[in-house]
Amino acid sequence: MSAAQGRSTFIVVSNRLPLDRITDPDGSSGWRRAPGGLVTALAPVMTDVDGAWVGWHGAPDETLAPFHHEGMDLIPVPQSAEEVELYYEGFSNSTLWPLYHDVIAPPEFHRTWWDAYRRVNHRFADAAADAAAPGATVWVQDYQLHLVPRYLRQQRPDLRIGFFNHIPFPPPEIFAQLPWRRAILDGLLGADLIGFQRPNDTANFLRCARRFLDANVKGREVQSPDGDGRITRAEPFPISIDVARIQELAARPDIIERAAQIRRDLGNPKTILLGVDRLDYTKGITHRLKAYGELLLDGKISVEDATLIQVASPSRERVESYRLLREEVDGMIGRINGQFDSILNTAVRYLHHSYPVEEMVALYLAADVLLVTALRDGMNLVAKEYVAARRGDTGALVLSEFTGAADQLKQALLVNPHDIDGLKSTIVRAINLPATEARRRMRSMRRQVLDHDVQRWSGDFLRTLAEASEHAG
Ligand code: G6P
Repeated sequence: MSAAQGRSTFIVVSNRLPLDRITDPDGSSGWRRAPGGLVTALAPVMTDVDGAWVGWHGAPDETLAPFHHEGMDLIPVPQSAEEVELYYEGFSNSTLWPLYHDVIAPPEFHRTWWDAYRRVNHRFADAAADAAAPGATVWVQDYQLHLVPRYLRQQRPDLRIGFFNHIPFPPPEIFAQLPWRRAILDGLLGADLIGFQRPNDTANFLRCARRFLDANVKGREVQSPDGDGRITRAEPFPISIDVARIQELAARPDIIERAAQIRRDLGNPKTILLGVDRLDYTKGITHRLKAYGELLLDGKISVEDATLIQVASPSRERVESYRLLREEVDGMIGRINGQFDSILNTAVRYLHHSYPVEEMVALYLAADVLLVTALRDGMNLVAKEYVAARRGDTGALVLSEFTGAADQLKQALLVNPHDIDGLKSTIVRAINLPATEARRRMRSMRRQVLDHDVQRWSGDFLRTLAEASEHAG
């Protein structure tokens, strides 16, 4: 069926292929590797071994043949427009996403969405099973594909199967709401190793397996209750970024100059604050804006002295809760700017776009303070990128306690974004942080990030997977 059929010894399966489609001025289209830690970490592994990446190419109702790009075999999995609605926008992003993020938005439960989720997960598993060589390693990514490990195991018991959950995993008290909770857990237990971002997520998963499957859980090992005696291991592997790439960009003269130009273009404010998020209700953008607006109102900051740049990249725009959030954010920023802007200065420079990594690094270099106020976030790689870019050990990171990154970046100024007064005083503290304290904090955070890049993360995971599959039985 596929060009790579049956010969790949290492396969990554994720909902999206790590490529963006680009259209040239002459109308012809091609592919460009998407920015992102996962592909950077895995591309070398892919090209060293006979690797393949199985995923959706982003266009509904289009079937593409497998192709080769920059040393990787890519195996596109089609999705109809209806499946995008039911499986991707529906079950993945309107059931599991809110359920796993502290039910910040109410999750919806629909049987038609669940049916589509099962069907599409089957298709991904079939594509991986076809491509895999005997005894191959298959690494399945994220909540869109919880059932793939079990479906794969059923077809191909010879495979070594890993799963990594990029987002939080909820406690049993919340997971309990899911009508298909047993099937989801059983789907995951098809893997030899399941990785989570935080120890807490791991503990939540183990408690769910014990409570809802009556599985035998010893330490971090779960014995599959289906009678075959197989063992699945669950462990935390906090993901990171491509540190070398960010550092290289942060040292490039044209990017340093671009950062200076950003400051000039904003009218040389004393302080530039920065927020960078997908426009998602989990990111606490409205909490940040509320705190910032009140600080302007209180006269604690002024538009002459400080500007907040808020980059909000468009995301899941057909999902109702995202549409509502956009309206709310647009409205809040409009009100703040209407009230506080002068002819020369703006309170919030709002950029509803995605930017290439070069521009992101220029923004990190320009920003004196990064604001990460997520209400719940599996990791938050923006915080780690900011730290990696700050070569001079300057700058302040305001970081929500509810991110995975807070476990590692202990020298950040930690905040509870629900506490608006606490958030306001922490923002003021970050703006006025004494240089020696800022340097001490940044140096310690940089040590952590520079020492734990995404290559180390994938290496740790794959090594543990090899061990776990030896013991799985
Ligand atoms: C999060 C998820 C990823 C997802 C990304 C973008 O980081 O963990 O699995 O790909 O958001 O969301 P999208 O729905 O555009 O793929």
